[in-house]
Amino acid sequence: MSTEDLFLRACRREPVKRTPVWIMRQAGRYLPEYRALRQRVDFRTLCSTPDLAAEASLQPLRRFPLDAAIVFSDIMAPLQSMGVEVDFAPGPVLAKPLRDRASVEALREPAPEEVAPATAETIRILTRELGGKVPVIGFAGAPLTVAAYLVEGKGSKDFSRFRAFLRAEPEAADLLLGKLARTTVHYLRAQVEAGAGAVQLFDTWAGLLDPATYSERALPHVQAILSALSSSGVPRIYFAPGSAHLGDLPSSSGADVLGVDWRTDLREARRVHGDGFAYQGNLDPAWLLAPGKGLEEAVCSVLDAAPDRGHIFNLGHGILPDTPLESVETILRVVHDRSAS
Ligand code: CP3
Repeated sequence: MSTEDLFLRACRREPVKRTPVWIMRQAGRYLPEYRALRQRVDFRTLCSTPDLAAEASLQPLRRFPLDAAIVFSDIMAPLQSMGVEVDFAPGPVLAKPLRDRASVEALREPAPEEVAPATAETIRILTRELGGKVPVIGFAGAPLTVAAYLVEGKGSKDFSRFRAFLRAEPEAADLLLGKLARTTVHYLRAQVEAGAGAVQLFDTWAGLLDPATYSERALPHVQAILSALSSSGVPRIYFAPGSAHLGDLPSSSGADVLGVDWRTDLREARRVHGDGFAYQGNLDPAWLLAPGKGLEEAVCSVLDAAPDRGHIFNLGHGILPDTPLESVETILRVVHDRSAS
């Protein structure tokens, strides 16, 4: 069985000889070689230069026996093709946030081939370099999450300006979310055509919403994107951290795999969403800052709570920049030892 089979088989809830592992944000600042790359180029250049982005994606795989690569890019990458400039400091910052209907109407809807073509090119390079050893995960931000940055203008604790915009300008909000959803379909399709073996939709800020607003404003766009990708045949992962209060609504997202953050026990996620999904997660990234027996036991607890079939081990959110490399080694060793059948 090639390693490729491990991740994709787990996504399809087929039996595997051990649990596959990848780590959200596995390419990034906790790696000294990533920091060295960033000394040479800024983040936007890194994302938009396929050779360099492929290098960043491969760095964690050279160091650790991970079961999937993720293309190096950012959820804000498609926006340039819509006529929006985004800076990073280190999170997304917009010089001109969208605050009214006119600026939403002015947003361009790009043709499929215009949407961040560097990402597909990076995937082509990765697919070639990896030679089928492990699959490449493509990704995009869900419309609500990308819109949250577009309207707020930067990261925020509670995105109150964005939430106010949803209330004050519901039609403009739907127009914005629809434009983002159609662009995202082009973007993810191009990634699959370039060789991505699975796709993940990051809905980092879905949990800002109450269930009714999520159901009315955000979920239909997620459903449209994931259903447009169903014919592509690749597993679709939906990750909406901090959304336990949304109950079973993410069950109707159209995903094959649900990402679970660390706040929710995997048993509880399975009770809410049922056996029709594979589950990805969900070790608290803060455990990696507390290496030792506690970390090993925490990895085992995640494995114990996971389904027998259909578990992809991951953190419950992105790896933290000050994570010691040894903690990643510990996780991989424990998952490899404890999940082998
Ligand atoms: O291995 C990987 O996963 C790397 C690819 C990747 C990045 N961003 C690179 C990145 C992925 C999958 C993302 C997704 C992303 N980007 C999300 C969803 C995931 C999540 O964490 O919820 C969000 C919300 C963003 C927006 C964004 N981009 C933020 C909030 C930040 C700051 C992050 C931080 O850690 O401070 C970025 C910048 C960013 N994106 C960095 C990286 C490696 C750090 C940039 C740098 O090198 O200075």
